[in-house]
Amino acid sequence: MKPSFHKYRPFEQISLPDRQWPNRVIDRAPVWCSVDLRDGNQALVDPMNLQEKLEFFKALCDMGFKEIEVGFPSASETEYEICRELIEGGHIPDDVTIQVLVQAREHLIRKTFEAIRGAKNVIVHFYNSTSTLQRKVVFHRDMPGVIDIAVQGARLIRELTEGYEGDTRIRYEYSPESFSGTEMDNAVDICAAVLEALGATPENPVILNLPNTVEMCTPNTYADQVEYFIRHLPGRERAIISIHPHNDRGTGVAAAELALLAGAERVEGTLFGNGERTGNLDIVTTGLNMHTQGVDPGLDFGDLPALRKLYERCTKMQVHERQPYAGELVFTAFSGSHQDAINKGTQYMQEHNSDYWEIPYLPIDPADVGRQYEPIIRINSQSGKGGAAFVMQQTFGYHLPKEMHPEFGAMVKAECDRIGRELTAQELFEVFRTHYLETPETYSLAGNSVFEERPGGGLFRGVILHHGGEQAVEAEGNGPIDAFFNALRQVGVTDYHFLSYHEHAVSSGSDSRAIAYIELKAPSGGTVFGVGIDDSINKASIRGVLSAINRSCMAK
Ligand code: KIV
Ligand code: ZN
Repeated sequence: MKPSFHKYRPFEQISLPDRQWPNRVIDRAPVWCSVDLRDGNQALVDPMNLQEKLEFFKALCDMGFKEIEVGFPSASETEYEICRELIEGGHIPDDVTIQVLVQAREHLIRKTFEAIRGAKNVIVHFYNSTSTLQRKVVFHRDMPGVIDIAVQGARLIRELTEGYEGDTRIRYEYSPESFSGTEMDNAVDICAAVLEALGATPENPVILNLPNTVEMCTPNTYADQVEYFIRHLPGRERAIISIHPHNDRGTGVAAAELALLAGAERVEGTLFGNGERTGNLDIVTTGLNMHTQGVDPGLDFGDLPALRKLYERCTKMQVHERQPYAGELVFTAFSGSHQDAINKGTQYMQEHNSDYWEIPYLPIDPADVGRQYEPIIRINSQSGKGGAAFVMQQTFGYHLPKEMHPEFGAMVKAECDRIGRELTAQELFEVFRTHYLETPETYSLAGNSVFEERPGGGLFRGVILHHGGEQAVEAEGNGPIDAFFNALRQVGVTDYHFLSYHEHAVSSGSDSRAIAYIELKAPSGGTVFGVGIDDSINKASIRGVLSAINRSCMAK
């Protein structure tokens, strides 16, 4: 038996040796047209009801779409009614154009013109299929027959527009459906004939939409087709070149991007790529890809979680966890080395006051799409020491000194191993609190201890509780830590040596407190960290010393 791949033929390439698109870059946003309410909707197991469509329509307007395909009003009574409600219910902002799809067939075109009565701005989008395969197996027509269908449709549309009463501004769009499966010269011929029949001019251009109805070739070939088409179309300035990629090979976004390089000026697609089979072009990904190149996409993606929620509710589809920009996990770094690099990138940006986004492993600032820093890193036993410190810093404002990272990282790893899963940020903080702030106290301070500053140092005075007893102490030193160490000697604590000290302010709500990290050399010879928090930095340091000593006592 022949292997099954033998039944396929390679996609036929077109000859365009002097193609220009590879040398270009995308430096501006196209005109976007959402087809969520038509192409996307018709592919849903459960198409949207009126309320859902209205809600979705409003969200698209709020995002900044100025062209929205609202349906196929001649296809069913429901579709017709939804179109009427949008118009009669006053849901369409003055600067938004609704687009209605119709096949190039007389009775459907007439019904469509009834459906758009009273709208301010409308694009009548008509189509017929032109591909080699569909002509052969579906329509049994030659190319002149297919051109005739499109031209008859165009003439009727022009006639109905000219006789149209009211203030509706009507524009036209024509799609040679399955454009990418059509011989390019035939695609050019049919579109040229449509431009003539519609009386297109540079002042009143017609949208020529070039669908990659079924994606069958690599994105570079689609780009070649678009560039070839544009270069061969007579009176190209009478047309706005639009693209309508699908995603059968998983390269819908790439195809759109290369087609933009090839000269496309307008893009049709859907949010999160919903649509027939593997979907339409994903406008969120395409737009945010531009955003990450410093190009304003002209659409507002600032609250992707809300958009995703609305999308999931209305379509009953799910956005995949790994969906670019929008997926639950796309701002989560599990690997320790990634976490370290993110940590370093964040510090670098702060230290250098950088104008540009320079954080490895995060191609976009999560805040740009309404995501928070908190879930960027989840801590698991593989996270590495830097990851836990990063979350402490980003989420809680605790800047653990670098020397402390291994010790805290080991505690976090042990906790992950103990509970058998990753830690949330709050659980991470609990590890910190239990070990450093709520250590069982072998030594503690009673009542009001004070550190009085004096020239060249100061005096510590207080009461130390230990082993069930209490002792008043008083000692001088060149600073609070030194004075406290001298006071500790009076209760027999003599074998600890001070190694390092870090402090900073930490805000909680409106007030700010001081936090001190103290590193001591313990009698065992190892190092131990302690943390103290207090309104006064002096007391925070003293508490930090006690925390370290108590932790060391616990370990004995
Ligand atoms: O994918 C397609 O070809 C279409 C056309 C009707 C534009 O949706
Ligand atoms: Zn489509």
